[in-house]
Amino acid sequence: MSVHPVESVPAATTRPAMNLPRLRDMASRGEKIAMLTAYDATFARVLDDAGVDTILVGDSLGNVIQGDTSTVPVALVDMVYHTRCTARGKRSAWLIADMPFGAYERSPEQAFDSAVELMRAGAQMVKLEGGGVLVETVRFLTERGIPVCAHLGLTPQRVHALGGFRVQGRDDAGAAALRADAKAMAAAGAAMLVLELVPSALARQVTEENLGLLTIGIGAGAGTSGQVLVLHDLLGLTAGKRPRFVRDFTHVAGSDVGLGIREAVQTYVQDVKQGRFPDEAVHGF
Ligand code: KIV
Repeated sequence: MSVHPVESVPAATTRPAMNLPRLRDMASRGEKIAMLTAYDATFARVLDDAGVDTILVGDSLGNVIQGDTSTVPVALVDMVYHTRCTARGKRSAWLIADMPFGAYERSPEQAFDSAVELMRAGAQMVKLEGGGVLVETVRFLTERGIPVCAHLGLTPQRVHALGGFRVQGRDDAGAAALRADAKAMAAAGAAMLVLELVPSALARQVTEENLGLLTIGIGAGAGTSGQVLVLHDLLGLTAGKRPRFVRDFTHVAGSDVGLGIREAVQTYVQDVKQGRFPDEAVHGF
């Protein structure tokens, strides 16, 4: 039985509240942004104490919390619930919530209503998947004071349309489309962009072409402004074959030493900041 409410855990660090100017300042100084997913108050506190800069309440909760095979079944009510739980545990980290499939695609107004629910639950930014058709939605949200993180490359909510979890932007046409989408998202006001499963060289190019847009990579090499992983992957808890871009941070490479959750998360933060993760030879495409 648990003895302490999350609130009573002493602070390991006292950091000023993270915000967009601080994140932009980090990127302009070349300091990498460390992002991880979390879905509840306890893990939010652990991540925050370990120095994670931004926490994403990802719709990956459909996989790792709800046990589904994709993020498609996740509902807005699920995201609101987990965003509220996570917001209660975090202190300084910047909190982003995923807009789930079906909650934003129909119209900018629908997206606004969904984003308001997530912000009321404690999100400081919302993330949505896709380019082109969503540019106007991003403009609509940002003009109304809702910070937006776009998500290009592999967009898991479209897994059925994409034909599986595959690297995106490998050919010239795919790479050009992704670069155009990134530019359009930045021009529409997106402050951040997750790049998932794209070749390292393309992610680096998108980052260099859009100064001021914070790029966060997952399976996208080391050339982005920061990195994100799904917490359960980092902790080696995810069943089945591990994607190439994932590292289990509970194991020290080349030894039998195992790390606890706090140490594993601290190692992730340090390795992102010191450029030790990702290792392009191992985790890149
Ligand atoms: O849902 C999620 O966790 C995500 C990250 C993998 C970027 O979108």
